[in-house]
Amino acid sequence: MTGTVYLVGAGPGAADLLTLRAARVLGEADVVFHDALVPAEILKLSSGRRIPVGKRSGRFATAQHFINKRLLDAAREHRVVVRLKGGDPMIFGRAHEEISFLLQHGVRVEVVPGVTAALAASAELGISLTRRGAARTVAFVTPRVGQGEAPSTWVRTVLAADTAAIYMGAGESGAIASTLITGGLAASTPVAVVENASLKHGRREFGALGDLASLARGFEGPTLILLGEVFSEAAAAARRATASTARAR
Ligand SMILES: C[S@@+](CC[C@H](N)C(=O)[O-])C[C@H]1O[C@@H](n2cnc3c(N)ncnc32)[C@H](O)[C@@H]1O
Repeated sequence: MTGTVYLVGAGPGAADLLTLRAARVLGEADVVFHDALVPAEILKLSSGRRIPVGKRSGRFATAQHFINKRLLDAAREHRVVVRLKGGDPMIFGRAHEEISFLLQHGVRVEVVPGVTAALAASAELGISLTRRGAARTVAFVTPRVGQGEAPSTWVRTVLAADTAAIYMGAGESGAIASTLITGGLAASTPVAVVENASLKHGRREFGALGDLASLARGFEGPTLILLGEVFSEAAAAARRATASTARAR
């Protein structure tokens, strides 16, 4: 007999965006393996053992195969094992690796969804990613490709979508902008850059794709790049504000 491993979405950062189901499962957990950025307020919902296995790009990282093995060992020992991930576990969260490994070893897995960063950013900006008349398609993409994986089709996907949310891209925003412009997007395409969506200290910038590198400069927390016509009014307002500041100088 083994326990159940729950892949639980912790949401984008604000603790009160956690689902009731996630809170219940955390309350029942014997052990919680959690990502680096999960807030303490959420971790406190569990009285079980908490083990950080966070992967933050370029910093501390626990190899995926090691995490898989620890989840399996924990499921052989405990009834309720939680793997707590930022945002939604199924969006750029390596959920598939964990699910398939555990199923292969006969461990039951359940997934509890969370609010993904793109939806938290949309809510915070008050801008619908599918605004009627402006957007009928939304793409969630990342330029990030792991070792040994096929090249990403993110450029083609962004070009084809009305609205795009680019995960794990802020550190290379200059390269992203020039790749998309070379691919055919206008340098004037409206963009939004959102850091720490849902948190009080979150920051945002609006502008044009051609200025993406300077808009994203200094954003070191988790940051999402959003682009598409739906951001045109916000980008125009930002342009007016910059122009009037320049005139006042
Ligand atoms: C490994 S991915 C995980 C995504 C997560 N599973 C989700 O559904 O949001 C990490 C990336 O998500 C984005 N991200 C996560 N939380 C964010 C937040 N609060 N605000 C802005 N972007 C965020 C950033 O692009 C970050 O580099």
